[in-house]
Amino acid sequence: MKDLISMADLSNEDIHELLDSAQDLKEKRARGKINEFLKNKSLAMIFEKPSTRTRVSFEVAMSELGGHGLYLNYKDIQLGRGEPISDTAEVLSRYVHGIAGRVNSHDTISEIAKYSTIPVINALSDLEHPCQILADLLTIQEYRNRIKNLKFTWVGDGNNVCNSVILGCAIVGMNIAIACPEGYEPNNDIVKQAKKIGGNVSITHDPAEAADNADILYTDVWISMGDEEEREKRLNDLGDYQINSRLVDLAKHDAIVMHCLPAHRGEEITEDVLNGPHSVIFDQAENRLHAQKALILKLMGQK
Ligand code: CP
Ligand code: NVA
Repeated sequence: MKDLISMADLSNEDIHELLDSAQDLKEKRARGKINEFLKNKSLAMIFEKPSTRTRVSFEVAMSELGGHGLYLNYKDIQLGRGEPISDTAEVLSRYVHGIAGRVNSHDTISEIAKYSTIPVINALSDLEHPCQILADLLTIQEYRNRIKNLKFTWVGDGNNVCNSVILGCAIVGMNIAIACPEGYEPNNDIVKQAKKIGGNVSITHDPAEAADNADILYTDVWISMGDEEEREKRLNDLGDYQINSRLVDLAKHDAIVMHCLPAHRGEEITEDVLNGPHSVIFDQAENRLHAQKALILKLMGQK
């Protein structure tokens, strides 16, 4: 495994190995134990879109492992002025030991990976957000002691995070129910791919049906980065697809509520649920750091 472009790049074994490693790194960090596994290694982090969690967690992960993370705003490097992706990838491969990229188009990150001789990580594209799902699975494992045979319910827009959730659930054997309005279904090829590897994926337009007996209730923003022009239409179409206390009551009594953040209170999730007893949202955000440390160690630790 050279890159993480899609969640489907990971096998069930890879995911379990990464979660064990992340848990170990998390415990070591809590005890103040630092291992400079990535001493003298650098990660170039190309961002074409804004980020808080991804940017900070990658940068801190690199520094805590003894290496260095370079934040490169897409507009400030020659890529933003039209230098070919292939040239950028070849040149960066001579300087650094890994590239993380947050891009508008999934093709961009695939092309960076194609022309790089070093590991490339998708730090979010319009199609997928695999790093997020690694942290999500770590969080579920912590709260449920397993990730297999649970019911994962997605409520809202079938977006990039949803696509990676579908693949992640299919790979580890978790059942996934998606409730979204018509026209907001997840990527059809990804759903097909998930079913092909044995995933139990159901899609409904009824949030109550999807939430019934759920172990996990998950949502994300109705307006993703790049969707801003459709704001009014999206608010209107997605209005009934909110995680609120009525929906939480339909899930298992000890269900956990998750959100990748940033959240829009009063839109996809209500304030009381976000801050309520079922919410594990801030543990989930913290786990981005531990999961990505495990990931960069796996990809960049050998070279
Ligand atoms: N969840 C997530 O990727 O957050 P950022 O956009 O802040 O990186
Ligand atoms: N679906 C959101 C996720 C943000 C982390 C977006 O793409 O903007």
